Amino acid sequence: MKQKNRTKTVLITGASCGIGLELSRLFAKDHYNMVIVARNHGHLEQVATGFRHLGAASVLCIPADLSVSGNALAVYNETRTRGIHIDILVNDAGAGEHGLFAETDLQRELGIIQLNIASLVVLTKLYLREMLARNEGKILNLASIASYQPTPRLAVYAATKAFVLSFSDALSYELENTGVTITALIPPATNTSFFESAGAEHTRAATENPEDPSVVADVGYEALMAGRYHATPPGIRRQIFMSSIMSNHAVASRAAKLMEPAEPFKDGVNTRNIPVQKP
Ligand SMILES: NC(=O)c1ccc[n+]([C@@H]2O[C@H](COP(=O)([O-])OP(=O)(O)OC[C@H]3O[C@@H](n4cnc5c(N)ncnc54)[C@H](OP(=O)(O)O)[C@@H]3O)[C@@H](O)[C@H]2O)c1
Repeated sequence: MKQKNRTKTVLITGASCGIGLELSRLFAKDHYNMVIVARNHGHLEQVATGFRHLGAASVLCIPADLSVSGNALAVYNETRTRGIHIDILVNDAGAGEHGLFAETDLQRELGIIQLNIASLVVLTKLYLREMLARNEGKILNLASIASYQPTPRLAVYAATKAFVLSFSDALSYELENTGVTITALIPPATNTSFFESAGAEHTRAATENPEDPSVVADVGYEALMAGRYHATPPGIRRQIFMSSIMSNHAVASRAAKLMEPAEPFKDGVNTRNIPVQKP
């Protein structure tokens, strides 16, 4: 991909669905060069065509499974080999797994830790060094309301998001007085394929009025461009405040309710074949 003068380049992981897709559309409309990353190459190529129609200066697809160690480094090496300078990094790709921790699959959860934490750290370190050398750049990391909430039945996921928020806030302080900013986007439950991928599509969190991904993306994009350290969609500040004044145990108890099945029974019948822990 040729670098065009004065045209900035953004790299977005998880660009093919949900919040990452909506963020990508905003960059496309603003005529960025785009490097987009996700596992499914066919789907990436499909959304790339849409981004070109929206106005992206160029779109390069790099298919990669970031839940596998070494693949984040391979993505970085691919952009380096092609001589691409990343001006903006969006670490969006993330996943969770619903269930009691003692019963969920260990390999799946180690992959989630690799994806949500290790790959994000690798990409941030490598591109941050280049941004600091130019004294210019922006990074957007996908945290979550779960960053503030130990979440039973989504324990590993919520803990990874606590990492992302803590990590981003620490870096934001380290980067003061440089030309590089880092922003943590903190969405509430949002209407994407996340819950289905996590096996949590039947929960209250997934079904009770989830936020629109385009609203979340708008808030994240605006905060990223302004260089703010947090991007908080409407309605979430109250949840963050409540989490900050309650004990972790009380927060976990509240979050546990959101991970329960939504209205499993109708007239005493489990109409949706939802497994119920506490009838
Ligand atoms: N939805 C919510 O309620 C919510 C709330 C707070 C925060 N978030 C965070 O927002 C981010 C985006 O979530 P979303 O809700 O938009 O999810 P989504 O709709 O499931 O989209 C996930 C994106 O990440 C890619 N992806 C998934 N696993 C990957 C892997 N192993 N390697 C590379 N790419 C991978 C997916 O493409 P492929 O499947 O092709 O790989 C897809 O493009 C995540 O970090 C999530 O934790 C979501």
